Amino acid sequence: MPDRYSKAIVLGDACVDMTIKLPHFKDGRMENFENPSLAGGGTCANTAVALSKLDVDTAFMGTVGQDSFGRYLIDEFESMGIDREFVQVDPESDTVCCFAFLDDTGERHIWGWPKKRQSYTQLDLSKINLEKLKTASWLHASGMNYLADGPMRTIMPYLFKVAFEAGVPTSLDLNTRTNTPEELDPEIKKAVLATVPYCTYFMGSAKDEFYSLYPCDDWRDSVRHFVAPGRTVVARSGSEGSWVFTPEGEEFAVPAYKVTAVNTTGAGDSFNAGFVAGILHGKNVKDAVRWGSAVAAYKVSHGGSRATPDLDGLREFFGSYGEEA
Ligand SMILES: Nc1ncnc2c1ncn2[C@@H]1O[C@H](COP(=O)(O)OP(=O)(O)OP(=O)(O)O)[C@@H](O)[C@H]1O
Ligand SMILES: [Mg+2]
Repeated sequence: MPDRYSKAIVLGDACVDMTIKLPHFKDGRMENFENPSLAGGGTCANTAVALSKLDVDTAFMGTVGQDSFGRYLIDEFESMGIDREFVQVDPESDTVCCFAFLDDTGERHIWGWPKKRQSYTQLDLSKINLEKLKTASWLHASGMNYLADGPMRTIMPYLFKVAFEAGVPTSLDLNTRTNTPEELDPEIKKAVLATVPYCTYFMGSAKDEFYSLYPCDDWRDSVRHFVAPGRTVVARSGSEGSWVFTPEGEEFAVPAYKVTAVNTTGAGDSFNAGFVAGILHGKNVKDAVRWGSAVAAYKVSHGGSRATPDLDGLREFFGSYGEEA
């Protein structure tokens, strides 16, 4: 029996987030110009970093470009103690930079660049050690990986199949960011539906993403459609909380924590990390959803995508609500 790999693998997008507060122009000159800020981002990289902070031995699997942003992300993974064995560097593509322009009203306008040959859509299957994948403690990914065309759309469903059939728990966060079925690109839908059969946990936004994927008059029926033997579905709705649908036919709600929201970016990504960490730290599904909700609420009340707690911070958060982890 070969040594088990035993790390939680997060597969997918890593990009950098550049936040720029739009300046005013007066008489052709800029005034009130604030320095832009650069931070690691990408839905899956966010989850990987948050997981690692929760004492889960984590690896990132995905592609960055052979460029300065790619190096920035690799350095960040290293500093966060994330295994980079599955990180691929592709000289033919570019690491995406997600510009967030903040206007006077505080509204964020997101613009991803480049629009073509984005590194996160690339993945070379021949470079992946499938035996290690088969003994990982977890495989998690996001539907964001399917946003643009590339090998990820066919390789990711295959990797989910390999992991799932080897008994590795798997989770997919829909993250299609669609409100209606018409907004869901058929190719993205195809890739998502090719992945779902190999998911132990399938999560997403209740009333828009699950509805877009399988429209029903009642969004609960959209969610129920994806429950199957061995597959639990977690449907979320921001401050309204989450609903869990188990293969045993149980359905229950888990409330969100009441916090003052300062930044909801990456709430879903941090929820995923809390949930996966909860299960890997031995919690049942209900408590893992509570962990997901707590990690997300902590983040929402503290700052941007990476403002998630470590284990002590999480315990303290629970304590402030009179709960135990
Ligand atoms: N304002 C809030 N207050 C408390 N908890 C929140 C708030 N917003 C989000 N959360 C928590 O984060 C979880 C995920 O948020 P949400 O339902 O918005 O997911 P999402 O739409 O996938 O987010 P994202 O935009 O990051 O993809 C919620 O289930 C909830 O537990
Ligand atoms: Mg989401």
